[in-house]
Formats: sequence, structure tokens, C-alpha cells
Amino acid sequence: MRSHMFSLVFLLFSVAQGLNLNPKCETRDRGSNLQVFHVYSPCSPFRPSKPLSWEEDVLQTQAKDQARLQYLSSLVARKSVVPIASGRQIVQSPTYIVRANVGTPPQTLLMAMDTSNDAAWIPCTGCTGCSSTVFDTAKSTTFQNLGCQAAQCKQVPNPSCDATGSSCMFNMTYGGSTIAANLSQDTITLATDSVPSYTFGCLQKTTGNSVPPQGLLGLGRGPLSLLSQTQDLYQSTFSYCLPNFRSLNFSGSLRLGPVGQPLKIKYTPLLKNPRRPSLYFVNLIGILVGSKVVDIPPSAIAFNATTGAGTIIDSGTVFTRLVDPAYVAVRDEFRRRVKVTNVTSLGGFDTCYNDPIVAPTITLMFAGMNVTLPQDNLLIHSTAGSITCLAMASAPANVNSVLNVIANMQQQNHRILFDVPNSRLGVARELCS
Ligand SMILES: *[C@@H]1O[C@H](CO)[C@@H](O)[C@H](O)[C@H]1NC(C)=O
Ligand SMILES: *[C@@H]1O[C@H](CO)[C@@H](O)[C@H](O)[C@H]1NC(C)=O
Ligand SMILES: *[C@@H]1O[C@H](CO)[C@@H](O)[C@H](O)[C@H]1NC(C)=O
Ligand SMILES: *[C@@H]1O[C@H](CO)[C@@H](O)[C@H](O)[C@H]1NC(C)=O
Ligand SMILES: *[C@@H]1O[C@H](CO)[C@@H](O)[C@H](O)[C@H]1NC(C)=O
Ligand SMILES: *[C@@H]1O[C@H](CO)[C@@H](O)[C@H](O)[C@H]1NC(C)=O
Repeated sequence: MRSHMFSLVFLLFSVAQGLNLNPKCETRDRGSNLQVFHVYSPCSPFRPSKPLSWEEDVLQTQAKDQARLQYLSSLVARKSVVPIASGRQIVQSPTYIVRANVGTPPQTLLMAMDTSNDAAWIPCTGCTGCSSTVFDTAKSTTFQNLGCQAAQCKQVPNPSCDATGSSCMFNMTYGGSTIAANLSQDTITLATDSVPSYTFGCLQKTTGNSVPPQGLLGLGRGPLSLLSQTQDLYQSTFSYCLPNFRSLNFSGSLRLGPVGQPLKIKYTPLLKNPRRPSLYFVNLIGILVGSKVVDIPPSAIAFNATTGAGTIIDSGTVFTRLVDPAYVAVRDEFRRRVKVTNVTSLGGFDTCYNDPIVAPTITLMFAGMNVTLPQDNLLIHSTAGSITCLAMASAPANVNSVLNVIANMQQQNHRILFDVPNSRLGVARELCS
């Protein structure tokens, strides 16, 4: 039980920290429920200073997705892939952020939710290459760096130690970036749940632009993840509802732990690739466009732990990517049903229309569960309303294209429940924006 005193102090502090003057941005994080904001929300300090045009936004999002796909594919393939050619640096900033309070007294940080990453990374004082707000470790009475003898030091990639062995440091690559961090511990408070001695990567150096400036809250299921470190509190169970990114004034929710999770929800089994145990694989067995099961070669969507093939559900990719034969089958049937012959493209989207269309539904058929996507999860429309695109694409050709990624636009306004102990993923429609 948490003391009322603590909650009160926490509440006052959070309000005082008010992320900006918009009254909508005062925290409503309660119990084990956190608000989820879009990174461009008026409550987010990471929104662009100058609003992007709709087209610029779509093209930039596609470029970031491309980098993320490359990263995810390199994870499943266990090999590095050549960076995709690009004239500019790609910022791989994920789309949804939550508030976390780190240290004693708490410092409020907005962290990116990432279901395909295990550990939490927090930009710390003295970090070179970290932008924006950093966690001031000197101001926290509960902060400590872990030494090289700590058991957790064996779980990080490329650990290194100085002569005294007093700090466990590690380096790794993430997308097109490299990071160097100290393995550290401090109290992290999520809504009103306090997790003492939480182990995270305290960023000391980053290069490139892939690491989100806000730090990362990994919701994967590997050894150093939030789930592993909060077994007693959350029992490896969480769910979220992501708001539509056209309703920036709305927030969704991240609900941690088994309490308050929906009872009426459809499930499909979660699969585990032993080589990448933290990724949430599901068994996509087919796709319906309208009422037609499209012709996808089973090998294109089959789960294969050796090759890394299969389908993952990811919170950080924006637009769903299917391997080429699957995408082509879906797209061709979609076009056939739309009937408007004048198809145009926009960046990586090859099925766009300048005229109004009546689109068929698309149903993702998972083992034991069909999810029919409403139009809001399928189509993007320009602000002026003059162009509409099918918001999916085929997996980038220059990476190991074996991975289908069910991305966040296709998850918006659904409750997605990760029930790791029962190895299942739940999906239910829920309007959170
Ligand atoms: C990280 O570890 C290095 C080496 O021990 C140390 O100099 C640095 O101050 C540490 N950073 C933080 C934020 O504690
Ligand atoms: C980790 O990165 C730091 C900073 O770039 C570098 O000084 C150090 O040698 C690297 N350590 C390893 C083990 O690669
Ligand atoms: C969001 O709220 C602000 C302030 O209340 C308002 O000015 C703005 O028009 C709203 N934006 C949208 C997209 O509804
Ligand atoms: C997985 O892929 C490998 C390499 O292509 C193949 O040899 C193996 O039969 C596949 N496994 C299954 C279960 O399909
Ligand atoms: C197709 O679209 C292009 C570009 O918007 C336009 O120039 C052309 O006239 C359209 N053709 C038809 C048949 O509608
Ligand atoms: C999914 O839809 C297909 C086609 O309508 C149907 O054959 C199948 O039984 C459905 N699966 C579930 C789990 O409802």
C-alpha cells in the first residue's frame, strides 16, 4: 500500500510540473493507468515548433518507419543491415509517449513507449548527443550506478568496466544510432505505482538521430524489461489504447497490471522466437479484403524462428508493413474493389486516390481471432481532403524482408492487451479518441 502522503506529494508535484499551460495537460495518471500522448500532442514538448504540412508529415513518418523496419528486421535476422540511403538523418522518434517520474524527489520525464525494446533508457546529466530534458542524477537521493559485479551487468550488450569496476557501462546500436550508457538504478514512479531500484540505461552518449530524445520505456518481455522488473506488481500484463493521431487533443491510456483489464476481448496466442524473445510475435494466418480471403502464399506469413519470419505487433512503427507477396495481394484486391481507376502514389504509399472512394474493410485473420479494421485504421486523408491513401506498404526491399509488422495506426482506438503469463494478445475496439 502506498501512503496517502506520498500520493499527495506526488500529485502536487506533478501538477506543479505542469508540462505546459494547457489545462488539458495536467496529469490524470492514476493508480496503474497512464495517459498516452501522441508525440505531436499539444501536451508534448516534442511536437514540431513549426507544424509540418500533411504531406511532409506523411513522408517523414514513412522515412522513420523505414528506419524502424530496418532495425526490427536486423533484430530478427541477428545481423546488421546496411543503412538505407538517405540524404538526411532519420529521426526514429516513436509516436506515443507516457509520463514517468524518476528519482527522489521525482523528476518528470516523458518517455516513448516501445513494445519491441526491453530496457528503459533515460537521458542523464552529462550526456553528449542527448537533446532536451535530461534526468539530473545528482539531484536524486535514490540514484546509484551499478557496479560490474552486479548480476544485471551480465544482461547488457558489450559491458565494459573502468579500472575500479564501480560502473557497468555498455554500448549498443539502435537503428542508425549508437548509445553508450551506465547501468543505473533509481525509483521510477508510473502513475501512482512506485518501483524502487528500477534498473535502466542512463544514457551518457548518443550518436545519430535514432534514439528518441525523450528516452525509451521498453515494454518488451526480455530480462531487463519493465515487465521482468515488476513481476509482483504487474504480473507481465499491460494494455494500451492509442488515440488517433488526427485527434491530438485526446490521450489514450496505458494500463499496467492485470487489474481493470477488459473481460470481453478476443485473443490470439502470442508466439515467441527464442532468438528474439522480447518481440511480440502473433500468428497472422490470412487477410480478408471485403469478404474475400486474398491469395497469400502461406510461406509469406508463416512464423519461422530460424529465419525470423512472421508477424509482430509493434507500438513504434506507424504504418503496417507486409512482406511483398502479402501486400501485393491485399493491395490488388483493395484496388479492384475501390473501382476508381485513377490510382496515384504518395512517397511509399502506392494506392492513393484523388477522388473520394468507398473502401472495403480489411480483416486481419489471426489464429483464433479476426480483427476487422474500420476505415479510420486503414485510410489516411490529406487535410484538404484531396487525397486518400491506403495506409499500408510492403516491407522495404533492401532489408531482410521476412517480417510483417502490425503498426500503431492500425491499432488506434483498440484496446491491445498483452497477457504474457497466458501467452496471448487481446484486441477489442475501444474509442479513446
Ligand atoms: C557514468 O559512469 C562514468 C564512469 O564511472 C562516470 O564518470 C559518470 O559520472 C557516470 N554518469 C552518471 C550520470 O552517473
Ligand atoms: C563505448 O563507447 C564509448 C564512447 O563512445 C567509447 O569510449 C568506448 O570505448 C566504447 N566501449 C566499447 C566496449 O565499445
Ligand atoms: C486542441 O485544443 C486547443 C486548445 O483547447 C484548441 O485550440 C485546438 O483547436 C484543439 N485542436 C484540435 C485538433 O481539436
Ligand atoms: C524455416 O526456414 C528454414 C530456412 O528457410 C527452413 O529450412 C525450415 O524448414 C523452416 N521451418 C519451418 C517450420 O517452416
Ligand atoms: C487521373 O489523375 C491525374 C492527376 O490527378 C489527372 O491529370 C487525370 O486527368 C486523371 N485521369 C482520369 C481518367 O481521371
Ligand atoms: C475469420 O473470418 C473467416 C472468414 O469470414 C472465417 O472463416 C473464420 O472462421 C473467422 N475466424 C474466427 C476466429 O472468427
